[in-house]
Amino acid sequence: MNIFLTGSTGFLGGELLVDLAKRQEVDKIYCLVRALSEEHAILRLKHVFELHGDIFDPKKIIPVLGNLGEHDFAKNLSAQKVIDDTHIIVHSAANTSFSKVYDKVVEQVNISGINEIIKWSLTLKNLQTFVYIGTATICGKDIVNRSVKEEESPNLKAHHVVRYTYTKMMGEIMLTKSLPKEKILIVRPSIIMGDSRDWIPRSYVILWAIETVNMLRLIPVNGKSALDVIPIDFASKAITTLLFAKRNHSVYHISSGAASATSSELITNAIAKSFPDLPPFKFVDKELMKEVKLWAKKKLPEGSKLYEYGSYLDYWKNSFTDTNEMRILLAALEPYLEFAELGQVFDNTKLLQDTQLSEPEPAHSYLARAAKYLKNIDVFAGAIDP
Ligand SMILES: NC(=O)c1ccc[n+]([C@@H]2O[C@H](COP(=O)([O-])OP(=O)(O)OC[C@H]3O[C@@H](n4cnc5c(N)ncnc54)[C@H](OP(=O)(O)O)[C@@H]3O)[C@@H](O)[C@H]2O)c1
Repeated sequence: MNIFLTGSTGFLGGELLVDLAKRQEVDKIYCLVRALSEEHAILRLKHVFELHGDIFDPKKIIPVLGNLGEHDFAKNLSAQKVIDDTHIIVHSAANTSFSKVYDKVVEQVNISGINEIIKWSLTLKNLQTFVYIGTATICGKDIVNRSVKEEESPNLKAHHVVRYTYTKMMGEIMLTKSLPKEKILIVRPSIIMGDSRDWIPRSYVILWAIETVNMLRLIPVNGKSALDVIPIDFASKAITTLLFAKRNHSVYHISSGAASATSSELITNAIAKSFPDLPPFKFVDKELMKEVKLWAKKKLPEGSKLYEYGSYLDYWKNSFTDTNEMRILLAALEPYLEFAELGQVFDNTKLLQDTQLSEPEPAHSYLARAAKYLKNIDVFAGAIDP
């Protein structure tokens, strides 16, 4: 079985690459990589395997140079005859930015990009399965404080926190319109963050936001809202198991579900023990975000409610030499806090039934172990390129 995998240099795609390379069913994995040359692409792929000492087999792992944003990308793929014998496409690449600044490129990569891959997939004689890595948050922001089922999405009327989730929804819609249902596997992870194995996670994607919260300590979000967070190892295991399992559905949440859900408060309680010298975490009304931003701009008016938290303002003054640094962090963190306030949990009954996997470890449990890696995170790198 030959697989064409996109996004293999990313957080989830990297984990999928290493896991798929270990499966007996898999002969070759063609990896779409953005690179300057074939040598550069191989270096990038080797790096994915080196992180945890996994073996890179150049006979099995074959780079395919390309960029989803290219004009006529399907033609580029068709010209590479070596990948004609693809049986499975796993499309994990996406532009995952939440920043409005990147909305155009997010649309180009996530909507035009999948359109080109679909066009190419229709020319493949041996194609058995097109796996689309979607996202559970395509359900939008109108659903609050309850469990969401797969059937509730996609919904074209849903309002979205960020353009990214809209583009991921459109990707799903385009795929289901173009390929027969039996060839489609749509997996919708919730929030993938950290690793439940006690080692350095493959990437600090989203974990940078926890370190930012750790730095701020006063957080304008409802700390008790339920959060659906899963570790990368569970996400990858669930997807690869589903791929080779007898499936009863074509769409699955890859999620914690209610049984393993967490909350911002549970997570901060879990990491607090590792930072005994910092002020205690305090959750305040989300409306205070505007005032926190004004404080960082040095424009907080007299009489603001934020002055009631004077010890936190003193702490910020001492920890940020330039409050513009705090402005950068707040701008990037804001959509994450908006997601955290929604209280959405994604039902994973179908996943657990068809894979026989156990519930994932709750995030507050494994993040207590991962707290020691938080200090390695460059929060500004995360904030600038979320
Ligand atoms: N992380 C989460 O919590 C989460 C939750 C739900 C769903 N998902 C979905 O899971 C998938 C993987 O996300 P991730 O967290 O692993 O993201 P990531 O770490 O940012 O990885 C994104 C991958 O996509 C590639 N990519 C981006 N733009 C590209 C382009 N124009 N052409 C070719 N490749 C491009 C990147 O390549 P470079 O290395 O060259 O940049 C990278 O390999 C995405 O589809 C995302 O929507 C993620």
